[in-house]
Amino acid sequence: MTEIKIFCPATIANLNCGFDVMGLCLDGIGDEMVIRKVETKGITITRITGADLPMETERNVAGVAGLALLNAAQSDYGFEIEIHKRIKAGSGIGSSSASAAGAVFGINELLGRPFTKHELVHFAMKGEALASGCEHADNVAPCVLGGFTLVRGYNPLDVIKIQSPEELYAVVLHPHIEVKTSDSRAVLNPEVSLKNAITQWGNLGGLIAGLYTKDYELIGRSLQDVIVEPARKHLIPNFDEVKNAALQNGALGAGISGAGPSIFALCNGEAIANIVSQSMKNAYADTGIPFDIHISKVNDTGTKII
Ligand code: HSE
Repeated sequence: MTEIKIFCPATIANLNCGFDVMGLCLDGIGDEMVIRKVETKGITITRITGADLPMETERNVAGVAGLALLNAAQSDYGFEIEIHKRIKAGSGIGSSSASAAGAVFGINELLGRPFTKHELVHFAMKGEALASGCEHADNVAPCVLGGFTLVRGYNPLDVIKIQSPEELYAVVLHPHIEVKTSDSRAVLNPEVSLKNAITQWGNLGGLIAGLYTKDYELIGRSLQDVIVEPARKHLIPNFDEVKNAALQNGALGAGISGAGPSIFALCNGEAIANIVSQSMKNAYADTGIPFDIHISKVNDTGTKII
């Protein structure tokens, strides 16, 4: 095997109470990449469609993540990468992570899988660092592993895949404006009060317990964010209106997807997800900003060969 085509899914990071540590993998929304094994060492980005991104390996997140893996593998081969973007940069659903995860997943497959999927997260984070200035794994982990993931620790990296109930659906409204992750991080206060920390870690524990025990009400009660959302929501037109519409129409919880501007809601079942999706559309419409909206089950597979 010298060439593969892969699907690299979009992801929702943070999930309100889990800033920089929680994420989930979406179905149906994602990029495609073609990875080719060649004799010439190193990585060459040969084609990018759907986005205006750097072709130079060291300036491209897929290139940087792929190089991190190649250096560790001490490979005698090199790789060509084609990137076909469907996830818009700065959308809040893990665009850079999809490229980074796709590169390391694809190269690892063509090298005969020298690394486990969990190990791939470490290399993919190098690409994420280039994109946002910070090595966070809450998008790359679910993109590589699928499902819900928790980054228990960063030093050393300790990623845990979390079980989730079958009937959980995500609705994601993506406004067509760009919010750079670095800008969205710049508005955050690096200090948090003990009171807010207690609320946040109580909710994170509740979310994990709710996912394992399939307790939808507990999942809903736990989808709160008293630290990051208050500081960021002004970056997203009609955020409160969309969130309230989702909650009033039966969503378990709703919030900012990753660094924004996408807004997500989690729902118990497809029928409720459809109603919630319509209510979110209605609540966003008067902004005049174009948007698209996706309904997705949790994707348990993550990045895969197609
Ligand atoms: N946890 C990150 C943030 C995700 O919210 O800044 C963005 O990619």
